[in-house]
Amino acid sequence: EHSASFVVVANRLPVDRVQMPDGSTAWRTSPGGLVTALEPVLRKHGGAWIGWSGAPDEKIDPFDLDGIQLVPVPIHDQEVKEYYEGFSNATLWPLYHDVIATPEFHREWWDSYVAVNQRFAEYAATIAEEDGLVWVQDYQLQLVPQMLRDLRPDLRIGFFLHVPFPPVELFTQLPWRRRILEGLLGADIVGFQTTGAAQNFVRLVRQRVGSKTHRDTIYLDDGRTVVAKAFPISIDSSYFEDLARKPSTQARADEIRASLGNPKFVLLGVDRLDYTKGMPQRLRAFGELAQQGILDPADAVFVQVAPPSRERVDQYRRLRDEIDRIVGRINGDVGRIGQPPITYLHSSYPREEMAALYRAADVMVVTPLRDGMNLVAKEYVACRYEETGALVLSEFAGASAELKQAYLVNPYDINGMKATMLKAISDTPKEKAKRMRAMRRQVMEHDIDKWAQCFLEDLETVREPHGKRT
Ligand code: G6P
Repeated sequence: EHSASFVVVANRLPVDRVQMPDGSTAWRTSPGGLVTALEPVLRKHGGAWIGWSGAPDEKIDPFDLDGIQLVPVPIHDQEVKEYYEGFSNATLWPLYHDVIATPEFHREWWDSYVAVNQRFAEYAATIAEEDGLVWVQDYQLQLVPQMLRDLRPDLRIGFFLHVPFPPVELFTQLPWRRRILEGLLGADIVGFQTTGAAQNFVRLVRQRVGSKTHRDTIYLDDGRTVVAKAFPISIDSSYFEDLARKPSTQARADEIRASLGNPKFVLLGVDRLDYTKGMPQRLRAFGELAQQGILDPADAVFVQVAPPSRERVDQYRRLRDEIDRIVGRINGDVGRIGQPPITYLHSSYPREEMAALYRAADVMVVTPLRDGMNLVAKEYVACRYEETGALVLSEFAGASAELKQAYLVNPYDINGMKATMLKAISDTPKEKAKRMRAMRRQVMEHDIDKWAQCFLEDLETVREPHGKRT
């Protein structure tokens, strides 16, 4: 009875089933950039969203959320460990992010990944209408395109990877490399955040699958073609700007600054607590500026918001301890009563509060060691409608290809980051406005609507639906 002509398939639903302290359960917006980006797309186009509720072993019936049909896929306890925490987040995640952490390869994890991908493909095959359009998302579901094509050759299938796609030399470590490539090649279009990522993929397909390629087009043996190219993702820019313009948001921003002791400069970091985000490096850079007396803690404070993420994965646990230690050390060294240089918040906040924080921040510091795009950087820019504020941005975030007027840094270079943070603080308002204006032009113009439109138009024209072919 549930069917749709437009179907999104993602590991997570846009809402997350969470346990409240009193034992009851509630729904909450899911973490991460994927949901931030895709939720407005589905709201606009309607259709079905197939995904996991975030709770193990729970059978939940499909339900409606603002005109989106949500179709929960059950994932058992063991699969949460092997498919989600294991293969997705302890194998693929570190491998695709420059092996910042060491990827682990376990055959049971792979088996679980295959089984869960097959389940998602079957759900999609059941729900998609004849000649419909199915859009599969991200690294957790790379086998779904081909599995779905085997079940439903009539469908047009798109795939988008939200994270980086690694260079050939790293990807080839993966024992199941050929299977992943073949899984992705089940799509008509494979989208990436950057041209570099798309080129890595095309090169791998040429080398490992042996297909002929020409620029962004791959020619398969069965006569099908696959297009692999960049579609840099974005946010609902005007939604964030509107939120920022609300008097209640500005009032909250003033309140935040007052709570911080009305310092001259507020620096802000916002990241899931993830080792790809370069938080230790950034805090160390700021900490040294404070310890060396270059920045007075009465003048300049750092607010780091870091929502919990993947807490049962070892590397994430260790990162949390490391951050605790770094923050504790710096605050202990240079803090005064009622005046810690770093305010560290290990929790997530609603978008209204985030907008107020962006309004309160003179400098936004986004320093991932590797990041597919980074939408926090774009959210900050969207909220700075007065063209004030400064963005310090890592060269290794996909966003740096578009936000070239940011204060760009190499997050591995601590001295370089110290100098650039200082420059972002002390540049003239005129210089800052010039940079912000250029970045705002980019973000307001290339919003999430544009992104979806580009991808879906390409997908619609890439080939006639199977049933209609003459
Ligand atoms: C990144 C990934 C998403 C993921 C999100 C949150 O943005 O690209 O696929 O959903 O992180 O991570 P989690 O493991 O909690 O879903």
